[in-house]
Amino acid sequence: MRTTVGIIGAGPAGLLLARLLHGAGIDSVVLEARDRAYVEHRQRAGILEQGTVDVLRAAGAGARMDREGLRHDGIELRFGRRRHRVDFPALTGGRSVMVYAQTEVCKDLIALQLAEGGPLLFGAEALAVEGAGTATPRVRFRHQGREDVLECDYVAGCDGFWGVSRAAVPAEVSRVFERRYPFGWLGVLADVPPSHDELVYARHDRGFALLSMRSPSVSRLYLQVPEGTEPEEWSDEDVWRELERRFETDDGWTLARGPLTQKSVTPMRSFVHEPMRHGRLFLAGDAAHIVPPTGAKGLNLAVGDVVTLARALVHRRETGSAALLDAYSETCLRRVWQAERFSYDMTTLLHRAPDATAFEDRLQLARLERIASSRAARTDLAEAYTGFPLDLPR
Ligand code: FAD
Ligand code: DHB
Repeated sequence: MRTTVGIIGAGPAGLLLARLLHGAGIDSVVLEARDRAYVEHRQRAGILEQGTVDVLRAAGAGARMDREGLRHDGIELRFGRRRHRVDFPALTGGRSVMVYAQTEVCKDLIALQLAEGGPLLFGAEALAVEGAGTATPRVRFRHQGREDVLECDYVAGCDGFWGVSRAAVPAEVSRVFERRYPFGWLGVLADVPPSHDELVYARHDRGFALLSMRSPSVSRLYLQVPEGTEPEEWSDEDVWRELERRFETDDGWTLARGPLTQKSVTPMRSFVHEPMRHGRLFLAGDAAHIVPPTGAKGLNLAVGDVVTLARALVHRRETGSAALLDAYSETCLRRVWQAERFSYDMTTLLHRAPDATAFEDRLQLARLERIASSRAARTDLAEAYTGFPLDLPR
């Protein structure tokens, strides 16, 4: 099999890249190890930055998002039993975010790809990227029990943190920057209308809690739990009682309960692999970097990477110049490190480390007070949360 761009992975990065290339008349083949149902139902991100929303619309994948997504103009920070709103449009010149689940973004992009795009093979596991440093890179993969080779001009490694692409970058040119956190998130889905119309990020002595949503009738809630926690250790009653404690306020706010339909634990890490390109292999999304979820940046970073890559590939075809491809890693990493910084700041602002000292607790509260009382500090948060502007693909 032969194509111009071999794309490994049908998460948001791989699917959107295929869509952007199709729009520009560049052919691609997407290889996805799992089946369609798995990709469409894996519960993950929920928040789209303004720039991501704009890109999905420009790519023709915004119709259902515009009907069913929920535009959010702010978040609430909760600490010391009090509530503090951060108003995004007022602080950023009109920017906001969209609550529209990653599962739905993937469903929309898969439907478009199958209807009018190039091949998208489910159950096709990439085994290795070969010849990344040559003009004829190849992806070896297994599909329907048979091994095959995809010959490409370029390979896009969009196969997430556990994929095989990153391993094709030789160890002597790879640099890894990593930080692990001694806690994770227990995430639940609940069949109950969200108890607040915006997201609530709560800092509590017992740990962080987040109230989010998937729709007007489905709540998404997260609790900070110790590293290594298994979801079965928490009964439904335990989850609700702990959420109620961490969200409790002095003004009598209440949390509505409902049946839990899903429970899972996510570990937290910061991770960056440099460079994001080796020869004709381009890493994008979680294959190249991970952020802890507190800043809601992972999916949005993946979108930024593939917009940059698509533009560089189009530029190459139209002008013959590889300048944008050569700049790919550096261009992406500038944005990646800003998101790493913000996600780290939000994580350390709101979580309680198991070994936190009384001094660190006080500093954390002082940081939160500063945000609550200073427009400049709130503006800094709002600009990063809604995302720095992304140039639209042509
Ligand atoms: P992935 O979504 O991981 O997709 C990679 C794909 O490659 C997968 O489908 C995988 O099956 C496939 N694959 C792997 N190996 C192979 C192989 N060898 N061959 C073929 N295919 C392969 N981000 C946000 O922006 N906002 C949020 O609110 C947010 N919340 C989150 C909450 C949680 C609980 C979690 C876990 C993550 C959250 N994220 C959030 C992060 C976001 O989900 C990820 O950053 C995003 O999925 C990255 O997309 P991707 O396409 O790079 O990788
Ligand atoms: C969600 C996830 C996040 O990481 C976040 O910061 C906000 C919302 C969510 O899954 O809804």
